[in-house]
Amino acid sequence: MNRLVVVSNRVPAPSAGTQAGGLAVALDGLMEKRGGLWFGWSGVIAAGAAGRPAMIERSGSVEYATIDLTQDEHDRYYNAFSNSVLWPLLHTMPELMQYDRRDARVYREVNARMAAALQPLLRPTDLIWVHDYHLMPMAAALRARGVRNPIGFFLHIPFCSPDVLAAAPEMTELVREMLSADLIGFQTDNDVTNFAAAAQVLAGAMRGPGNSLFFGGRRIRLGVFPVEIEARSFAARAAEMAESPAVRRLRRDLEGQRLILGVERLDPTKGLLQRLVGLRRLLEKRQDWRGHLTMLQIAAMSRKDVESYRALRTALDREAGALNADLGEPDWQPLRLVARGVERSTVAGYMRLARVGLVTPLRDGMNLVAKEFVAAQDPADPGVLVLSRFAGSARQLEAALLVNPHDPDAMADALDSALRMGLEERQARWRALWAAIEHRSPLVWGRSFVAALLRASTLTVAKTPVPL
Ligand code: G6P
Repeated sequence: MNRLVVVSNRVPAPSAGTQAGGLAVALDGLMEKRGGLWFGWSGVIAAGAAGRPAMIERSGSVEYATIDLTQDEHDRYYNAFSNSVLWPLLHTMPELMQYDRRDARVYREVNARMAAALQPLLRPTDLIWVHDYHLMPMAAALRARGVRNPIGFFLHIPFCSPDVLAAAPEMTELVREMLSADLIGFQTDNDVTNFAAAAQVLAGAMRGPGNSLFFGGRRIRLGVFPVEIEARSFAARAAEMAESPAVRRLRRDLEGQRLILGVERLDPTKGLLQRLVGLRRLLEKRQDWRGHLTMLQIAAMSRKDVESYRALRTALDREAGALNADLGEPDWQPLRLVARGVERSTVAGYMRLARVGLVTPLRDGMNLVAKEFVAAQDPADPGVLVLSRFAGSARQLEAALLVNPHDPDAMADALDSALRMGLEERQARWRALWAAIEHRSPLVWGRSFVAALLRASTLTVAKTPVPL
């Protein structure tokens, strides 16, 4: 078996502590089972980091190789270009972009530096799998250093339409650089369609047979690989945690009120403010719910150096306070907001306790929380998933109550239906949702990508372009 080399910005190396976010969750499961080399940022900011070789650690069958970033690199590559340009842009929220071409230059330099640190660690038979928007130029940077191994790229977040994409001047070049990979994977069909259009319109690629493109005399495969969770083990963990002290305490505290649960990183894409508007609308329209439900929103503070995240935190604090002040009673508050991270096992137990899982991003590549909520339910008495139709996972989880998060009345109506739904319908919906995730796992996801990469790398050699 060829060694798998995963390259991502976040690396859960033993020295880096736990990591929040879909990428770490998905890849951790895969690497634990398959083994290999995992390369990326150490999570450390250090003066004089540039030029140092990667630090190597081992845990089980996984070898971790990481480099530190300088303060300037962290500010410009991570906070600015990755999270204040690419993240909002690719999520179709260009109004949140904070663009500065100097950040783009450092973003490119960090990719080149990472490629230089990775190259000496590579073996000729390695399969290289690069992840996410921080590393769009990585395949090209490795090729520029003469690396000939098969290279796959997977984008965990959405890919916006070409007209939105053009708002950042670098995108044409970045799309060209992505095309140095042999296989480019996305979460949904929609992302593939948008990327293929951008590659043709902006970068001058030509459409090839099947899901492929011709560019620079090479054929590049595109594919859809929805990220999955380890559904059975998450279900077992949730069942076990349902009796943990933390979950018992919350159950006691709720005193029979129905729990609506939201869990995510505090992020402008997650629709947190819209969710509070939806809850307010519900309590205004259906006053009989007052005193009988509690919404627990865990919104773990994230990317705190980025202005839009700090502004969101302030707005969320204000709205949460206003909601409780306007609608609360001396002995009841509709909302509990927690802006710290909560341990994943405890969250699994909370999910099992909840009557409603509220997952309503404005846009999301996949959203694994929605899948985790399904896995966490007690099949005999399951809760209801209310899911944004703009999450990638909505394409698989069609038996959820799908909502438009921009429409407060739709949110209020969906919440009301979810809270009132009878046992039979809850069970029927849950069975359909479970069937969609039960047999999948990060390992199956990873294997299908790697198999496609092996097939793709034999195809990439020069072929005559097929006219459109
Ligand atoms: C999303 C991204 C990941 C990222 C994670 C956490 O899931 O797709 O690449 O690691 O968010 O964000 P952070 O900025 O803390 O790495």
